[in-house]
Amino acid sequence: MTSWTAASLLAEIAEIGRNGDGSYSRFCLRPEEVTLREWFVAKATQIGLTIVTDMNANIWAWWGTPGPDAVLTGSHLDSVPGGGAYDGPLGVVSSLVAVATMRDAGITPSKPLAIVAMADEEGARFGMPCLGSRLAAGKLSKAEAHKLVARDGQSLPDAWRAAGLDPDLIGPNDVLLTASCFIELHVEQGRGLADLGHPVAIATAVRPHGRWRAEFTGQGNHAGTTLICDRHDPVLPVAQTVLAAREAAEREGCVTTVGRINVEPGGTNVIASAATMWLDCRAEASQTVTKVVKDIQQASKTAADKHGCQVVWTRESWTDRTSFELRARMLKILGENTPQLSTGAGHDAATLATTMPTGMLFVRNPTGASHCPAESASDADCEAGVEALQTVLEELVK
Ligand code: GLV
Ligand code: MN
Ligand code: MN
Repeated sequence: MTSWTAASLLAEIAEIGRNGDGSYSRFCLRPEEVTLREWFVAKATQIGLTIVTDMNANIWAWWGTPGPDAVLTGSHLDSVPGGGAYDGPLGVVSSLVAVATMRDAGITPSKPLAIVAMADEEGARFGMPCLGSRLAAGKLSKAEAHKLVARDGQSLPDAWRAAGLDPDLIGPNDVLLTASCFIELHVEQGRGLADLGHPVAIATAVRPHGRWRAEFTGQGNHAGTTLICDRHDPVLPVAQTVLAAREAAEREGCVTTVGRINVEPGGTNVIASAATMWLDCRAEASQTVTKVVKDIQQASKTAADKHGCQVVWTRESWTDRTSFELRARMLKILGENTPQLSTGAGHDAATLATTMPTGMLFVRNPTGASHCPAESASDADCEAGVEALQTVLEELVK
């Protein structure tokens, strides 16, 4: 018998990858995330689950023999830079508690069940959100994966090899492709449940979203001696593009974010020779995202021309609008009055939704904040989430 709760398990990992301001930086296959992986393997082994790490860097903890028709649950252990304690790990620890309780209760599933910790869900290391689930579902090819380079400069194949994984074996996972369903519990990343006064919601949909990279080039030069009229400073079109992104979002009623900019070579007294910015754009409808990104790209080209610079855009990732097929079933299981919410956040459950029926549960986040240290959930709400997850899993494995 275990006496685990979601809060007690989160407390065990609270110091791993924690920054001075209380936020977390846990990047896929970097030492902090590897420590979390080892911790997950130890916990799952402790309750009698069998571990399989696939060649897409996802860890599977099996109750029963891996095979077709499996019920999958879980989430991710990695974080964004400076993320919160709950985004990802809450889903993993909730799955561990729910499965431990089911096993203690003597339940015998009629289907294999696995808790999956998916690799680089945030895309914070390799730039591709939901990397592990995209690879396992065959939505990102081995050839495309091999081209990915981590922010720290390590190529994906090298990072794989360093972790004891064979990058040549990256590819669709038969067990995932023949699974019965996937259910992911997640901290809510907005204030929906706080406003409704409920601890747990069923997810309805994930809004369409994508990431783009804009590489501006200009001419490096001396900050003190180069006349303003002689400059080709790529930071200026970047600044104008950031403002264009905000204006387009306000005009079209969607959200755009520039959360990352690199300036090269990065000297206080050096006019930059190049600057790269990343744009995240999300909306209710994919056509809105397409239009907004086109407008921003046009504005960036006009700004680049004005400053004698060049700009090249690349789409890094895209996730279309996703509805969760398991929603209706979960509503029956948990009660028709359970709140239902859509979200602008991305999830592995959305990536997998065209591969198998998927569903999500959200746990109230009183601050509504996420991807920052203010993200929170009370111990009692986390337990309510575990209870809901367990109730759903018990039905799904029948
Ligand atoms: C992940 O949480 C995302 O929405 O980008
Ligand atoms: Mn996240
Ligand atoms: Mn997440």
